[in-house]
Amino acid sequence: MIRDLTDDEARAALPLKWELPDVVPAWVAEMDYAQAEPITEALVDAVRRGALGYPPHGDDLGAAFSGFAARHWGWDVPAGASVATGGVVSGIRLALEVLCPPGPVVVPMPCYPPFVHAVEVTGREVVPIELDPESDDAGLDLAAVSRAFAAGARTLLLCNPHNPLGHVPSRGELAGLAALAREYDARVITDEIHAPLTLPGATFTPYLSLDDRAVLVTSPSKAFNMPATHGAQLVVLDPADRARLEAAPIPAQNTWSSLGVVAGTVAWRDCDDWLAALVERLAEQRALLAELLADRLPKARMRPLEATYLAWLDLRAYGVDDPAAAALAHGVRLAPGQDYQPGLTGHVRLNLATSADRLERIVEGLRTALDDGGSGAPRG
Ligand SMILES: Cc1ncc(COP(=O)(O)O)c(C=O)c1O
Repeated sequence: MIRDLTDDEARAALPLKWELPDVVPAWVAEMDYAQAEPITEALVDAVRRGALGYPPHGDDLGAAFSGFAARHWGWDVPAGASVATGGVVSGIRLALEVLCPPGPVVVPMPCYPPFVHAVEVTGREVVPIELDPESDDAGLDLAAVSRAFAAGARTLLLCNPHNPLGHVPSRGELAGLAALAREYDARVITDEIHAPLTLPGATFTPYLSLDDRAVLVTSPSKAFNMPATHGAQLVVLDPADRARLEAAPIPAQNTWSSLGVVAGTVAWRDCDDWLAALVERLAEQRALLAELLADRLPKARMRPLEATYLAWLDLRAYGVDDPAAAALAHGVRLAPGQDYQPGLTGHVRLNLATSADRLERIVEGLRTALDDGGSGAPRG
């Protein structure tokens, strides 16, 4: 059911990921797999019907998401709680501007870089707190969160599951955060775009099921590999909060795409079989990566990958400060660790959502680069 794209197909389908010639890409979070057939059919049908007008007020996205949440997580979320928006990152900005008080925002580090940018463009200060990838659970440091709230922060950006660490926070960890949010009357914005990609062995907990003042921002675009459809959702339980989001003037909103609503509705509603096959495939890729690393890069340390297809590798034992730059010089593009935590050396994020053969080429390219001690002029 999961069809690998050939190199030519991948270059056409994922032009950003594959933008450099003669390079195997394992950086940006897109998968080298064809979309689920029901999504393709629904989009083709919509385009053939000429359904390219503005999206309507009131659509099926919220109901489709509720069904997905009930089936996958046993979570009952009202269909009317969703507010459509253009993207998760711009949805975070909207939530900050419309629903959160001005003032510092706690951001656990390392983080997906646009978290920092979203806080900065709203004129707020980032309060970084460290997640510890060395610890087995890389969980939230609740004492640090408490100190940040006590010092005046009233907002926290959560990534559940976490990109780039691949961590799925436990229910207990999230309940601890929810208790602090209640104590300090703080608002948690939780980005759960990776939740459908929770892998066997881990259990995802929707944060909003523990803290009804939180703002959930999500989209099927990551799990179903379709960022071009430009569709996401804010999910808020308080009708007054929802009214504030809906009343935001057009230039303050992000708008969204009719095609995003079409694709998103079908993804949440009709693609469970495809998603199950995908998760199985990603679990196989995870096992293959572990084998390849043990064989070719035995000093690499991979964080337990509990969700997503983005593996976080600690390569400091090889003594190369910027392994991503070194790998690029050997035809492999990885995401540099320092993009997720400024100043962090010796780490990369590796996207394993590709064919087995390409994954082997990626690890082999990295091995050659590190064996070289990182010398060689980076390409492109
Ligand atoms: C945690 C996280 N949030 C958001 C996004 C992007 O979402 P969008 O394209 O809807 O802004 C990504 C993309 O990889 C991501 O990893």
